[in-house]
Amino acid sequence: MTPRTPDDAGAPPRHVAIIMDGNGRWAKARGLPRFEGHRRGVEALRRAVRAASEFGIATLTVYGFSAENWRRPAPEVDYLMGLLRRFVRNDLAELHAAGVRVRIIGRRAGLAPDIVALLDEAQALTAANDALTLVVAFNYGGRQEIADAARRLAREVAAGRLSAEAIDEAALGRALDAPDLPDPDLVIRTSGERRLSNFLLWQAAYAEFVFLPTLWPDFDRADFAAALAEYASRERRFGDVVARPAANAS
Ligand code: FPP
Repeated sequence: MTPRTPDDAGAPPRHVAIIMDGNGRWAKARGLPRFEGHRRGVEALRRAVRAASEFGIATLTVYGFSAENWRRPAPEVDYLMGLLRRFVRNDLAELHAAGVRVRIIGRRAGLAPDIVALLDEAQALTAANDALTLVVAFNYGGRQEIADAARRLAREVAAGRLSAEAIDEAALGRALDAPDLPDPDLVIRTSGERRLSNFLLWQAAYAEFVFLPTLWPDFDRADFAAALAEYASRERRFGDVVARPAANAS
């Protein structure tokens, strides 16, 4: 296999982002309600978190609920909100014990107050952990995140704290939801779909994409390993003519 770059051959990606797709089709294929696919999707998420730690990945971002998912029938939206509540209530202690730092990206506005409180609690409890950063994108949309960042910068300019000329890529990047995290090196989407669906639009500018046919509830360690092997075979040039280490990407 071709090494990704001369310097980091064989190194795992620092940041993997996953679009967990195919829960509904998984359930339909078994004659089960869509809810069951989502419930089993949480089990696949637990497997993915464990595998990411084992593979030495520093940051794992998962697309839990998109800004567009509100269009789904109300009972399904309610079920997904309930799943998040249960995930935080049931898994937070274990995640904390395993050294996982939980981060949330996405708009808080629009979420039920108890969900906002749970998300804040998960972040606060695990803030000092350093084994794996698990970023849950919830009520998240890439365009919305960029628009929110632009609005924050505009407010700074209006208040006289920032000059318009100082707004560059770095300034916009710093105004995003989690500016301290590295950009994803690898975006995985399950279920055979080949779309970004408004996920990490800014951050995925130089990401590698791996699309797997596996439906999310079936996603396991072997699928994760296969995606990493595919990533390891890619040569990343970041616009240059020769492979470059990720740290030099711009
Ligand atoms: C996409 O499958 C999946 C979702 C919209 C929800 C993802 C949520 C989970 C995996 C549950 C765990 C997440 C959290 C945050 C606890 P789909 O319903 O679009 O599947 P389909 O395309 O086959 O219909």
